[in-house]
Amino acid sequence: MQKRVCIIGAGPSGITALKNLKDKDIDVVCYDRNTEVGGNWIYSDDESHSSVFETTHIISSKTLSQYEDFTFDDFDKTVADYPSHDELRRYFQAYAKRFDLYSYIEFKTIVKHCKRIANNEWQVTIIQNRKEQIEIFTDLVVCNGHHSVPRMPKYPGKFTGQFIHSHSYKKATPFKDKRVLVIGGGNSACDVAVETSRVSKKTSISWRRGYRIIPKFFFGLPSDTVGARSSWLPIKIRSWFNDRLLNILLGKNKLYGLQEVKTKFGETHPTINDELLYKIRHGKVHPKVDIEKLDGNTVYFKDGTSEDLDVIIACTGYILKHSFFDKEFIDYSDGPVPLYLKMFHPNYHDVFFVGMFQPLGCIWPGSELQSKILANYLVGNWKMPSNIKTLCEKEVTDPHYKQIDTPRHTITVDYHKFRKALLKQLPKNWKSKKPQNFSKSA
Ligand SMILES: Cc1cc2nc3c(=O)[nH]c(=O)nc-3n(C[C@H](O)[C@H](O)[C@H](O)COP(=O)(O)OP(=O)(O)OC[C@H]3O[C@@H](n4cnc5c(N)ncnc54)[C@H](O)[C@@H]3O)c2cc1C
Ligand SMILES: NC(=O)c1ccc[n+]([C@@H]2O[C@H](COP(=O)([O-])OP(=O)(O)OC[C@H]3O[C@@H](n4cnc5c(N)ncnc54)[C@H](OP(=O)(O)O)[C@@H]3O)[C@@H](O)[C@H]2O)c1
Repeated sequence: MQKRVCIIGAGPSGITALKNLKDKDIDVVCYDRNTEVGGNWIYSDDESHSSVFETTHIISSKTLSQYEDFTFDDFDKTVADYPSHDELRRYFQAYAKRFDLYSYIEFKTIVKHCKRIANNEWQVTIIQNRKEQIEIFTDLVVCNGHHSVPRMPKYPGKFTGQFIHSHSYKKATPFKDKRVLVIGGGNSACDVAVETSRVSKKTSISWRRGYRIIPKFFFGLPSDTVGARSSWLPIKIRSWFNDRLLNILLGKNKLYGLQEVKTKFGETHPTINDELLYKIRHGKVHPKVDIEKLDGNTVYFKDGTSEDLDVIIACTGYILKHSFFDKEFIDYSDGPVPLYLKMFHPNYHDVFFVGMFQPLGCIWPGSELQSKILANYLVGNWKMPSNIKTLCEKEVTDPHYKQIDTPRHTITVDYHKFRKALLKQLPKNWKSKKPQNFSKSA
């Protein structure tokens, strides 16, 4: 059957899907509502798809955050250990240029609805220039990202100050001289608390449990590269070792006035930050426990204390959303996500998810490997396992980490274990650094 494949999204996952399908001479169209390649990494002062801040640098270091077909050394050897959002945007755009992807991407195009009419028949409704049109494809590759639809917390009472989500937080300046409360213990919360504390009258941070804060460097090296040296060990031993190491290097949370950590390493998504503990010990960020209720401009906490505030910034994570599918067809927003290798559906073998996993590490190297398996599948060089349904169930019942049951923990993978599982599906010569030159209409 002649394939015609639709890719939704030209972020880091979408472009590597496009590149690798194109490498196999598959007829493919990629739609993105943006005007450029880069997805989350196209910072904007205004509300957009992107959730990065003016000051965001990644939390995974560059050696573990690169496509192997186009490394940071291939791009620009001077890139920092932890690149900024702008360096990443330029990296992704250079990847798209290098592999001649632009002519396959239709920008300013919203994928509004995807309906599966029959096996290998997708009716995709797109909006271009405010006009709706329908396109027919054999297969769908979903790369719409999972960090752009805010998950807002709910509390008894009403807050009369400004109450926003970290998706809308762009920079610290609007919070100058304000009394700010940041909610959450993830990477957004800690970054936002550190940044607002530079200009605010007072910044507090409310955690509903204790989190271990991991520094960006151990022994002068990026911490993930140090961690990678023990990646051959079973996860349980690695987690035990990481917990011990962090206790020795940083001490217990109570030394900082923070709640004690009751989880093992990996049981919550890791929070990586070099400045939060420093800011707390310099009296710039004030730890608080979970919120009890809101009343006017006062927030009451579960330990009986209260604070009068101007602004609350909820850094409470994002919803895994696919607004273009009918809810009764596919809805992963509350989990579980039973997809083999986090990409293959148990029943529909013409819809694929690339980048829809949450590694303890970087996403796009995994997206690159997923894309290569997908490309092989689409040209008949890789067979879907006959026990696909069992394998999909296993993804849910036997995850890499047994994490706490909160909404953000439905798609976690261990970076190294996941990579190994993906590589097992690929031939030894899987890298393809050379641009291919098939004609666009092939
Ligand atoms: C502040 C912040 C920092 C982060 N830091 C890291 C990090 O250090 N390391 C890491 O690995 N990950 C990090 N992430 C996670 C981030 O999701 C990934 O880095 C990466 O952006 C995932 O790429 P993606 O292509 O899957 O999704 P995205 O980058 O979100 O791209 C999705 C694309 O799909 C398009 N799209 C979506 N819906 C539609 C539609 N209906 N029609 C048309 N186009 C559509 C969007 O316009 C966008 O271009 C961070 C996230 C945030 C919010
Ligand atoms: N510098 C960077 O590279 C950077 C910066 C920001 C974000 N990121 C990445 O972006 C992704 C999203 O991160 P994120 O920090 O925005 O979201 P997140 O990882 O989902 O963290 C959300 C935090 O809010 C808490 N929370 C959720 N609902 C709550 C509620 N109702 N009340 C109180 N607390 C609540 C969660 O608690 P539980 O522990 O109970 O779930 C968690 O601590 C992650 O992959 C992250 O690594 C990276």
